[in-house]
Amino acid sequence: MFIQPASSLKGSILIPGDKSISHRSIMFGALAEGCTEVTHFLQGADCLSTIACFQKLGIAIENTPECIRIHGKGLYGLRPPGCSLDVGNSGTTARLISGILAGQPFATTLTGDASIQKRPMGRIIAPLREMGADIKSLHENDCAPLCINSSKLKGIHYHSPVASAQVKSCLLLAGMYADGETSITEPVLSRNHTELMLAAFGANIKSSNVTASIQPRPHLTGQKIDVPGDISSAAYFIAAGLLVPNSELLIQNVGINPTRDGMLRAAKAMHANITPCNTRVISGEPVCDLLVKSSSLDGTEIGGSLIPALIDELPVIAVMAAYANGTTIIKDAAELKVKESNRIDTIVNNLTAMGADAVATDDGMIIHGGKPLHAAQIHTHQDHRIAMSFAVAALCAEGGTEILDADCACISYPAFYRDINSLRVV
Ligand code: S3P
Repeated sequence: MFIQPASSLKGSILIPGDKSISHRSIMFGALAEGCTEVTHFLQGADCLSTIACFQKLGIAIENTPECIRIHGKGLYGLRPPGCSLDVGNSGTTARLISGILAGQPFATTLTGDASIQKRPMGRIIAPLREMGADIKSLHENDCAPLCINSSKLKGIHYHSPVASAQVKSCLLLAGMYADGETSITEPVLSRNHTELMLAAFGANIKSSNVTASIQPRPHLTGQKIDVPGDISSAAYFIAAGLLVPNSELLIQNVGINPTRDGMLRAAKAMHANITPCNTRVISGEPVCDLLVKSSSLDGTEIGGSLIPALIDELPVIAVMAAYANGTTIIKDAAELKVKESNRIDTIVNNLTAMGADAVATDDGMIIHGGKPLHAAQIHTHQDHRIAMSFAVAALCAEGGTEILDADCACISYPAFYRDINSLRVV
């Protein structure tokens, strides 16, 4: 895919459904009694992997143009899949479904693509074992494939060393099958979609500060869910609107849950011109439209408790930093190394290839912004967020930038290139 620079972006864009919320709507719908109807479901490859896994577990799921209909069978309604479950590229599917599978009266094997087979699963294996789960990494390297056998679970209180919504959600889901309460305390609050949505389905789940707890054996009931737009997808349009000169974009239907809105806070610190409007609540989640105008950005420091609230947006924030005046320091973000690619390396190497002054650190990067960027060949390492972030970088660079394996954008945003091109002023 070659991306040419843009002289101006204008118009409005409706952001596709949130990936985290879409995954959860399928999983919780499958474990609820009765039908769950989901509108604005994200039809990205990751969420389709979740659908496929639950279909193999015996759940009827209709994917129609209007909505997704999940015919839930209750907490104990899943059936042995008869083959291994393939989560594709999806870490969320792998980690959340493991919590559910740990509580089933049958054995499963779970695998995924080359990237998934390198991502750390020790972070769920250790606490699940503490709960009594029989789970092991097939190659004993703490990665998938995972073999999960039936066993009796007990509630624990777990102090997680990482702020990870996938770890938290995995344990809360396993906790539904345990004897006694299960709770988890994180170093910093991670996204709380599981807590909000499971409560709406009828679970007895509580959260206070950085601790969430769940009581076992809830009676979950099918829901109607309208999925808010994904701020992680909106992030590319926010950055593009800010960076491309003479631009004005109305970015509609953006989920602004406070555990996810860190990019807006970082952009504000960089002196971005972003006006939220039409704030409302959709399916228990805050949503707004964002009016974004071209801005002269300044560098900033991003770290601490802000990191989990913008972890997936750091690739495109790094692109903003490369075009900003002054220095941006990103720290406390070692989690970037264990995403779909080692994002510290993929960001810094690709920014450097485009002529930026960027240096990797142990837990982030330092970017001295303001140097003009030029076209380069972008190595995405099949990481969707790297492909889309560097497509944005290309809009303001000199020459035509080549994005290798650009199709990986379909993991979270199948229509990304069409949507961004639709905003070009010609
Ligand atoms: C997600 C949690 C985050 C995020 C991922 C989606 C989720 O991962 O990066 O894209 O839906 O729970 P971690 O839990 O590993 O931080």
